Amino acid sequence: MVDSDADFQALTRTIQKILGFQCGSYKEDYIKRRVLSRMRITGKSDFKEYNTYFLSNTDEQEHLRNALTVNVTKFYRDKEVFDIVKNEIIPSIIAEKGRMRIWCAGCSTGEEPYTLALIISDALRLRTDVPVTIFASDIDREVLKKAREGIYDKRSLENLTETQISRHFNHLENGKYQVKDHLKSMIRFSQHDLLGGRAVTNFLDMVLCRNVTIYFTEKQKDDLARMFHPALVPEGYYIMGKTEFMGREVEDLYTPYNALQKIYRKK
Ligand SMILES: C[S@@+](CC[C@H](N)C(=O)[O-])C[C@H]1O[C@@H](n2cnc3c(N)ncnc32)[C@H](O)[C@@H]1O
Repeated sequence: MVDSDADFQALTRTIQKILGFQCGSYKEDYIKRRVLSRMRITGKSDFKEYNTYFLSNTDEQEHLRNALTVNVTKFYRDKEVFDIVKNEIIPSIIAEKGRMRIWCAGCSTGEEPYTLALIISDALRLRTDVPVTIFASDIDREVLKKAREGIYDKRSLENLTETQISRHFNHLENGKYQVKDHLKSMIRFSQHDLLGGRAVTNFLDMVLCRNVTIYFTEKQKDDLARMFHPALVPEGYYIMGKTEFMGREVEDLYTPYNALQKIYRKK
């Protein structure tokens, strides 16, 4: 058992070195479950054997990277994107529409929709005349459970300022932080499969679908962009993940607003 633990620690060091994935930022159990699943698939019986295989097999390195990042998310993930959302997009929607409807598609454990709620709440301050609904969906019921609870470690909040934390979270006795009700009330979580071909709702001012399509085929990615199009209001915003690309077949549907940050507008 001691050996196995030492082997697991050695493997996490290899993972960190090869993938740049900060294993220390996650619960050991989280890493272990995903590694064990890869070990089952590749027929490796212990951490040491898997470590040797992982070191020499670039395909397996990619498989493990995907397995480790499947639900990974954080508050204010990609600061440049959320700075644009905060400084340009949200103020312009509030000024033009006087209301806001956003879909956060593939929301995982909730950090992304809560980031939006927090930005909007700060932008509105005490204004109560702007109705806001953030539709947040994911295919995975387990992550949605965590999202609805809205309880996070201090580590997950590292991109937020102390003012944002004290304004929008309750500090619990166990040291964790729970999102306050004024943010929760802006969000409707639901289970939804993005490959089912229908949007959760219409008349959307903005759709964020970021870091979701890693296992999707090119056609499925294009179909997503086609599904979002009629669900958006004219000139509504479509925000993709920073490493995701608008397919050739669908690029006529949108104009780039900030191509570098993968922010588009409906044509
Ligand atoms: C890496 S997380 C991205 C979370 C967040 N959007 C972000 O960028 O930080 C990807 C999420 O997409 C969800 N997902 C994958 N396939 C999906 C599908 N077909 N329909 C809905 N959600 C899906 C996964 O369950 C996972 O929670």
